[in-house]
Amino acid sequence: MEFTIKSGSPEKQRSACVVVGVFDNRKLSLSAELIDRASNGYIGEIIRRGDMEGKLGATLLLHNVRGTLADRVLLVGLGKERDFRDKEFRAAVRAAVKLLNETGSYEAVIYLTEEKVKRREVGWRVEHAVVVAMEAVYRFDQMKSQPTEVRRPLRKLTLSVPQRSDLAAGEKAAARGLAIAHGADLARDLGNLPANVCTPGLLGERALELAQQFPALKVQVLERAEIEALGMGSFLSVSAGTEEPPRFIVMEYMNSPRKARPFVLVGKGITFDSGGISIKPAPDMDHMKFDMCGAAAVFGTLRAILELAPPLSVVGLVPACENLPSGKATKPGDIVKSMSGQTIEVLNTDAEGRLILADALTYAERYEPEAVVDVATLTGAMVIALGHVACGVFSNSDALARELVAAGEEACDRGWQLPLWDDYHEGLASNFADFANVGGRAGGSIVAACFLSKFARKYDWAHLDIAGISHRDGKEKGATGRPVPLLTTWLLAQDNAPA
Ligand code: BES
Ligand code: MN
Ligand code: ZN
Repeated sequence: MEFTIKSGSPEKQRSACVVVGVFDNRKLSLSAELIDRASNGYIGEIIRRGDMEGKLGATLLLHNVRGTLADRVLLVGLGKERDFRDKEFRAAVRAAVKLLNETGSYEAVIYLTEEKVKRREVGWRVEHAVVVAMEAVYRFDQMKSQPTEVRRPLRKLTLSVPQRSDLAAGEKAAARGLAIAHGADLARDLGNLPANVCTPGLLGERALELAQQFPALKVQVLERAEIEALGMGSFLSVSAGTEEPPRFIVMEYMNSPRKARPFVLVGKGITFDSGGISIKPAPDMDHMKFDMCGAAAVFGTLRAILELAPPLSVVGLVPACENLPSGKATKPGDIVKSMSGQTIEVLNTDAEGRLILADALTYAERYEPEAVVDVATLTGAMVIALGHVACGVFSNSDALARELVAAGEEACDRGWQLPLWDDYHEGLASNFADFANVGGRAGGSIVAACFLSKFARKYDWAHLDIAGISHRDGKEKGATGRPVPLLTTWLLAQDNAPA
């Protein structure tokens, strides 16, 4: 979809559709008021008949409204004016775009971006309108033999800003929103691909394709022999049971002024998690194709950064493999040696994410990073703790955790900090190796983060457990593209941070 920014009166737009808001209860927004005046009170008349109360997300499509130059006027309910905040703004845009995509309009001018949202400037509104619009029209049908065509898809959205002096900020924000949306689309596509297509090899190819599309990206895809040579015994132990060869993917975007240190993103790339010998129960095991959503988020975030090309350096590291049982698979009780030299007793082969991340975190040391953030569908316990609303944020630096939580808040892609206190480390004690890969069930997400922290001692590090937010089940089953908005917002804020 294409986006442009404009400033002007709604009744004067020559467009297939003009979109204006109505507050609950039957209160016209300023732009709806202008249409009402131009049409001699037609909007007010319709509202008095009770066809549009202004309930959040309600829509009413009108044709040939007199006094206006557009083919259609779409009224969108905004809910109560005093409750109109981030979430409500996004819900209204989503409802409008979903409807527009199903009507005859190829194109529309949307005035919702003129509505005041508490504590948010026009740039925020434009950026989020773009992100939400792209998400609303996203579909994954590349695996269908006959994709269901949208008859007249929405191709172009014009976003209105209150004043001509807002145009420059609006354009910048639209570009940011579009980059984030493209990144989220990439993350969703990779996440939704089935595990028989989205193999470690395919992820490696996609990284090389990204480098072709954006020459500022340097990519290296390491194969088994090179991974062995690095001493990544922890990572390789997860791959032992499968015929599908592993990959260690390194993506570098180096664009800092004054050789500032890079930010490193590490993404869990388990293309299918059966649990291995500690095999998972059958129900919902198909969800474990989403166990590479951390990796997908790293791809997506890099895609967003590459499109905007800010002056900073970002490295993406993706250990990718399958976790399957077989005669060669790692067994409970096996002891493996990580790249860091630390030995690990693998008490449960289903706690595999931490085993592949451990070696990637050690690899990250070579960049002398400013900060390292890993992203992983790490624990089922995370879904119990924070549900599908926020990801867990764990860090050895409270300042870094605060930055990430703030970025999540701004991006409407929330994270929430959990502790990493020493007390939680005790469960990982082992009589046979330096430590085990699991503790008890209690505090499972924190214990997993404690395990990772043992491999992240040399730099500021944070871990995002995205098990609850990376994909949805039910009618809307599929990858969400989160936390690409959070991560991109965080990285772009670094560009403005004082040196
Ligand atoms: N990939 C899973 C975590 C997961 C579960 C993600 C549900 C998304 C939805 C992870 O590898 C795993 O199996 N974790 C175990 C850890 C346990 C063995 C300590 C879990 O959460 O049960
Ligand atoms: Mn697992
Ligand atoms: Zn897993």
